[in-house]
Amino acid sequence: MRSEKFYFKIENLSFFGALIWCIVCCTSALSSCISLDDVLTRSRYSCIVALVTNSCFSDQIVDNAGYVQLTNLFQHKNLGIVVDIVHIDSKWPNGEPLRKGNVEVGNIVLFRKVTKDRTCLLPSTRKQSMAPAILKGINDLATLVDFVNDGCETYFSTSGGPSIEGLHRNEILRTLFHVKNISNIQSREVFPPQLPQFCEVKDQSCSDMNHMFHPNPPKIPECEKIDLPSKNSFFHDYVKISKPVIFKNVLRNWPAFSKWTNSYLREKYGENNIHIKLTPLGEYEGVEPRNMWENHEKLKIPQSVLNQLAFPDLVVVRPATKNLNFSSFMDIVEKVSNGSIKDMSAYLEYSSIPDHLPELEDDILEEMLFQGLLKRNHLNIWLSDGRTLGKLHFDQYDNLLCQISGKKQVMLFDPHNNHQMYEGHIPEANLSYNQTSNTFHRHHLLESTSMVMSPVDILKPDYSRFPLFGDTYPLNCTLEEGDVLYLPSFWWHEVQSFPNVTAGRNLAINFWYDPFLIREFPCAECKLDVNPKYRHLL
Ligand SMILES: *[C@@H]1O[C@H](CO)[C@@H](O)[C@H](O)[C@H]1NC(C)=O
Ligand SMILES: *[C@@H]1O[C@H](CO)[C@@H](O)[C@H](O)[C@H]1NC(C)=O
Ligand SMILES: *[C@@H]1O[C@H](CO)[C@@H](O)[C@H](O)[C@H]1NC(C)=O
Ligand SMILES: *[C@@H]1O[C@H](CO)[C@@H](O)[C@H](O)[C@H]1NC(C)=O
Ligand SMILES: *[C@@H]1O[C@H](CO)[C@@H](O)[C@H](O)[C@H]1NC(C)=O
Ligand SMILES: *[C@@H]1O[C@H](CO)[C@@H](O)[C@H](O)[C@H]1NC(C)=O
Ligand SMILES: *[C@@H]1O[C@H](CO)[C@@H](O)[C@H](O)[C@H]1NC(C)=O
Repeated sequence: MRSEKFYFKIENLSFFGALIWCIVCCTSALSSCISLDDVLTRSRYSCIVALVTNSCFSDQIVDNAGYVQLTNLFQHKNLGIVVDIVHIDSKWPNGEPLRKGNVEVGNIVLFRKVTKDRTCLLPSTRKQSMAPAILKGINDLATLVDFVNDGCETYFSTSGGPSIEGLHRNEILRTLFHVKNISNIQSREVFPPQLPQFCEVKDQSCSDMNHMFHPNPPKIPECEKIDLPSKNSFFHDYVKISKPVIFKNVLRNWPAFSKWTNSYLREKYGENNIHIKLTPLGEYEGVEPRNMWENHEKLKIPQSVLNQLAFPDLVVVRPATKNLNFSSFMDIVEKVSNGSIKDMSAYLEYSSIPDHLPELEDDILEEMLFQGLLKRNHLNIWLSDGRTLGKLHFDQYDNLLCQISGKKQVMLFDPHNNHQMYEGHIPEANLSYNQTSNTFHRHHLLESTSMVMSPVDILKPDYSRFPLFGDTYPLNCTLEEGDVLYLPSFWWHEVQSFPNVTAGRNLAINFWYDPFLIREFPCAECKLDVNPKYRHLL
């Protein structure tokens, strides 16, 4: 999601908290229980499971068979799980009692491993307490192991080895789809891809690039294109292995496909208020030098933040925005399309259908697309005159992109070697649009970063600056009217839209689902893993 960001704002550190920490630490030093301060420290590396007791002295440790077995299973085995006992009267460094969360003697409490906060570039303040998961009443080892697997996101069996789900997960991670593995892969001389036709007419900068056209460019491998598969095959052959695929011609019997002409949409929903994006040349969320912005010397990024930015001299350009009714937006789209508005592009971009145009949902037959397999998170509409370019980024969702009018060439790069895409934080800036003069301005540098954009311009890669990009392999997934693209989570994509010339527009909708495969980001070296939410599918 492109709106993911962090802010530079510094929160107050609590010195009082540090004082309490010391007191708790000193008073619990003699016991054999884990202190809650230790829980905070150790949870940075491990998941912690503890039996709640009212005595910390070893001769009185509860004789609980399940707990003892659990200890044998995990203790001192370096499996990322700590098993211990914790006193019912323990307090967190901030003075909060463990009892607060309904915890009682004899319960098992579980403290998740704390994942590093990659979204914030400021030093994080020390965490003062954690809410445990609680297992009431001691049960058999199987129940305990299930509890641990759920809470610690692990895959153990009652013998300490991997469970069946764990074996499936290992298999999945071993067989993920890589573009590079496609047999007959072309060499790296594929860039820049053929530039879109309209570019030559519309955008002056295209002429600068003409010299880069390869006289006879090698072909970039294309996405597999198939008829709509069964839900089972979709899951096993694509979702599970993170493989993009296009379903040909599956939208033609959706009401949306025939009903949603410009005049129908304008007539029915003209009054609805929407939020649109504007740019001068149809490029959305590109990356450019910071010094193109008016006050770039003035806005100082704190040094500690600066040190963590790989490319502090670049900014992600956020389009200008405008609120208006749907009818006025259609006016702009038609005028841009027939050339009566120049040097401007307007895009209803990843705009929520349920929020802004809820009636449209009746014309969308999501139930035809693998219903119930993945959990839907967003349903968006994408509408423009059809000459837009969404620059290279990834989304943390599994995506079904449904093309209703016009074409989209989606250039994909797999989510495996993300250092080659130079993944990281890039500061952002907002374009502004002056309606009176019909001009764009660059003066809103922001104190936030984008975490999902690549700094590489795939149409004119700067190989001296981004040499590792030279070893990446693109996959060309081009959608025509009626097609649906399955775009797995975290795949990098750059989307070139083309208009349906008769209709003078490009129209698509997309579903974002909770992803089957997840990873931490921004993090060039972090690998995909199965989303614990979908454990039941393993
Ligand atoms: C695909 O390629 C990756 C990286 O080059 C390699 O690690 C993996 O084993 C290959 N997988 C298959 C199924 O060939
Ligand atoms: C991508 O594939 C489409 C056809 O599916 C083709 O028309 C287009 O030229 C290809 N783009 C590139 C850059 O190879
Ligand atoms: C849309 O907004 C414009 C400008 O504010 C107004 O003139 C027009 O009547 C509105 N159209 C509809 C259908 O609400
Ligand atoms: C362009 O479209 C607008 C809005 O539909 C219309 O008012 C205008 O007359 C058209 N101009 C040309 C030159 O076709
Ligand atoms: C920048 O744009 C975003 C999204 O369009 C908006 O939420 C934010 O308020 C803008 N910030 C400034 C300083 O203009
Ligand atoms: C917009 O442009 C007009 C005409 O050039 C100018 O008078 C006005 O000050 C500009 N508005 C803003 C907010 O910059
Ligand atoms: C363009 O849209 C019209 C409907 O407005 C449709 O009849 C036509 O088939 C579309 N063209 C292509 C190339 O898909």
